[in-house]
Amino acid sequence: MARSVRLVPVLLVCCALAGTACGGGVHGTPGGSGVRDPYFPKAGNGGYDVTHYGLRLGYAPDAHHLTGTATLTARATKALSAFNLDLLGLEVGKVTVGGETARWNRAGQELTVRPREDLDEGETFRVTVGYSGAPETVTDPDGSKEGWLRTTDGALALGEPAGSMAWFPGNHHPSDKAAYDLTVTVPRGLRAVSNGELRGETTARDRTTFRWHTAEPMASYLATLAIGPYDISRTTARDGLPVYTAVDPAEKKGSRAVLARIPEVLRWAERRFGPYPFSSTGAIVDRAADIGYALETQSRPVFPGAPDITLLVHELAHQWYGDSVTPESWRDMWLNEGFATYAEWLWEEDHGGETAQESFDALYDHGEQTYEDLWSFPPGKPTDAAHLSGAPVYQRGAMVLHKVRQAVGDEAFGDILRGWAAAHRHGNADTAGFTAYVEKQAPGKDVDGIWEDWLYGEGKPERP
Ligand code: TRP
Ligand code: ZN
Repeated sequence: MARSVRLVPVLLVCCALAGTACGGGVHGTPGGSGVRDPYFPKAGNGGYDVTHYGLRLGYAPDAHHLTGTATLTARATKALSAFNLDLLGLEVGKVTVGGETARWNRAGQELTVRPREDLDEGETFRVTVGYSGAPETVTDPDGSKEGWLRTTDGALALGEPAGSMAWFPGNHHPSDKAAYDLTVTVPRGLRAVSNGELRGETTARDRTTFRWHTAEPMASYLATLAIGPYDISRTTARDGLPVYTAVDPAEKKGSRAVLARIPEVLRWAERRFGPYPFSSTGAIVDRAADIGYALETQSRPVFPGAPDITLLVHELAHQWYGDSVTPESWRDMWLNEGFATYAEWLWEEDHGGETAQESFDALYDHGEQTYEDLWSFPPGKPTDAAHLSGAPVYQRGAMVLHKVRQAVGDEAFGDILRGWAAAHRHGNADTAGFTAYVEKQAPGKDVDGIWEDWLYGEGKPERP
């Protein structure tokens, strides 16, 4: 970074001497090393927007060795003399921009690339990074494990909120979504399963290569790669929507009945949330109990063991809220978890269990017995990165939605759930966007107090 800072004034002088506008992009400055996320300041990078990731990977589980070539297609959002990618660990080999070798250097998770020529604002460019090594497991601020996780017979890559930089270089912030093509080669007998649709599978000698395609924009934290001797099932849901499930043989018995309900859950969710946003679905069930959480990886959620129906509903609801409508920053996490938790309540209500009102009341009356931290901070303003997966984000987030439902009525609330998913389909949204959306959809309803007390207020709100 220091080098490029030194270059800038010199180039400006050149332009001034030439007496013309700086053509040919000779006036670029470095892109930022982060996008100022309030919880993960180094996540993502400024100055460009990735439209496509092409990843070619090979993994040998026994040697725990990953080789990769990442080809990113991106658009410069300003004139750039250099830009950063996020990459953790691994060794970088060759880097090219526009087919030409580029200089690079690394500092922590920042890989700074300096193209031979500056990039113009608005220019589409292609950067390739060759890399290899032993991918790392990342420990989150809250102590949970993500990144590259070794399993007994393979590996599992999980990326919320920061683990994807452990297996490919990129703009690792939810605000930059892109299409993906992933080609993965593993030892014969193992399978490599990712998001989207399987476009090809070829075995040559002792290795098998799988090609996966994700056309709809995906945040990098939702990318996954699961390598293991899975049992595969390929069926269809409504209108021929492909359902691809990969299950660890040890989890097969416990998973069969619940995974068979994916089409039923989707049918219900489409009624509640609107059209399913992706072109395939499914699940990955690994034997990874020590991971301890499921993740809503796009189109194909990951479960660390056979899920129950509630967890399946939660992760499938995230396909609308989180995956299609993705938080603008990690501060907006409750837009994921509050909605997915509320989906559990709705499922329960629609299937002869507790009503959402009863779920709400039980939480209000004695929620702190189950969730000690329930009133410790408001969902719209998590204390810090270690608290993003806390009960105020999940359970109190769902309570915010229930308060909205009480204020606007069931019908308008249903329209808000579907309308919000439609308005930001395949995009990003933030909390202020949500409150403004509700106000627009329910004119004249008094919702200010909900934001003040339930979304942003400290402590336990008074019973109304
Ligand atoms: N998003 C996951 C779920 O609720 C849980 C999770 C995994 C998570 N990693 C996280 C939540 C990091 C917050 C932060 O299904
Ligand atoms: Zn969730």
